[in-house]
Amino acid sequence: MGNKVLVIDDEKAIRSVVKEILQAEQFDVEECANGEEALQKIQQTQYDILLCDIKMPKINGEELFEKINQLNYPTAFIVMSAHGDIDTAVKFMKAGAFDYLQKPFGLDKLIQTCKNAVSRNQTIQQKRTTTTKNKNTSETPEIIGQSEAIQKILRIIDKVALTDAKVLITGPNGSGKELVAKRIHALSHRSKNPFVEVNCAAIPSELIESELFGHEKGSFTGAVSQKKGKFELADGGTLFLDEIGDMSLSAQAKVLRAIQDNKIQRVGSEKDIVVNVRLIAATNKNLKEEIKKQLFREDLYHRLNVIHIAVPPLNERREDIPLLIEYFSKQFAEQHKVPVKAFDKKSKEFLKNMDYTGNIRQLKNIIERLYVLCEGDVITSSELEMYCYEY
Ligand SMILES: Nc1ncnc2c1ncn2[C@@H]1O[C@H](COP(=O)(O)OP(=O)(O)OP(=O)(O)O)[C@@H](O)[C@H]1O
Ligand SMILES: [Mg+2]
Repeated sequence: MGNKVLVIDDEKAIRSVVKEILQAEQFDVEECANGEEALQKIQQTQYDILLCDIKMPKINGEELFEKINQLNYPTAFIVMSAHGDIDTAVKFMKAGAFDYLQKPFGLDKLIQTCKNAVSRNQTIQQKRTTTTKNKNTSETPEIIGQSEAIQKILRIIDKVALTDAKVLITGPNGSGKELVAKRIHALSHRSKNPFVEVNCAAIPSELIESELFGHEKGSFTGAVSQKKGKFELADGGTLFLDEIGDMSLSAQAKVLRAIQDNKIQRVGSEKDIVVNVRLIAATNKNLKEEIKKQLFREDLYHRLNVIHIAVPPLNERREDIPLLIEYFSKQFAEQHKVPVKAFDKKSKEFLKNMDYTGNIRQLKNIIERLYVLCEGDVITSSELEMYCYEY
C-alpha cells in the first residue's frame, strides 16, 4: 500500500489534479473540502501527508494545523499557499509544517515535496524505534534525579540524541558529565557503533596528536608500528573529548581543523582520512575564563558549544539525594551480595545536609563504603560519621 495522503482544498479542480498526479506515483489519495471534514477523517485514518489549502470555509488551514498540533497527530503537513502569500507560509513553517507549495505549482515540485515528506516520516519512524529499543536495554545509563535541573537535562538529552549536534557538557568533578555523554550516545542512532573516550588531561601534550589522529610507522621515535587514532576508532560513533579545557593549544588547533573538514591526517602522513564522528566534549573548567587567559581557542569553543548542558553541583540539588541513596544502595547490595540496608532517620538527615564537594561520586563512594564495612542492616548516624571522611 502506498503512503496515505489527504488533500484538503475548497476548490474541487485543484483536489482532482493533485489526486490524479499523486495516484500516478502510487500514493493512496483521499480528498475533502475543508478543515472540518479533514478533522473528522483524521480521527479515523492515519495519513502520512496532509496537503492543505489555507483559505477555506468553516475550519481554515491555520486552525486545522493548530488542532493537529494539539492532538499530536503524526503527519507531514504541507501547506498549499496562494500566490504571494509567502508570509503565511513562513508562519506555518515556523509552527512546524513540513513544507509549502506555492500555487500554481508544477507536477514535479508536487511529487518531489511529497517524496521528501515520505523520507522524513521514515527517518522519524526509524529513530523512534531505535530510541525505544535502546531505552529498554540495560546499556543505556540511567541518570537519577527528580530536581528540575536533572529533569531538564534528561529532556535535552532525548532531543539531542536524535541529532548529530555537538554537545559541550560542563560541571564540577563527579557531577555526572561522563554519564550524560554516554546516555546521549546510547540513545542515538550511533549506539551500535563505538563510544570512544579521550581524557585530554591525562595524555602528555607531545602524544595527544598521535593519540587523536594516529600515526604512521616510523613517524617519530617510538612509533614502531602504524596506529589508528581515536577519531578513526570512533568512526560512525561518538568521540568523547573529556577534560577538553586541559588540551594544549596546538592540539586544539588540530582538533578544530578535524571538526571543520571532517577529515584527519595521521602523524607522518599527508593523506586525508574522512571520518564521521559525533563530538561531545566535557570540562570542569570555565572555558570563557580560559579564553580570556588565552589558554583556550575561542573559535574551537564556538564550534563545540552548539548544545550546552550544564550539570549543577549536588549541593544545589539536594532533593536528588534520597533517590540517589536508594539507587546506589540497590546497586551495591547486588554487587556485594548483601541485603539492602536501611538508613535511620538521623543518618538520612546527615546525608541530606552534608557538603558534597566531590558531588555524586562522593555520595556513591560513601554508600559503597557502608556496604563494605557496616555489618548491620540499619545504618546509624554514628556509623555514617565514621565513614563519611574525605581525604
Ligand atoms: N544522576 C546520576 N544518577 C546516577 N549515577 C550518577 C549520576 N550522576 C553521576 N553518577 C555516577 O557518579 C559517578 C561520577 O559521575 P561521572 O564520572 O559521570 O562524573 P564527571 O562529571 O564526569 O566527573 P569528573 O569531572 O571527575 O570526570 C559515576 O559513577 C556515575 O555513574
Ligand atoms: Mg568525567
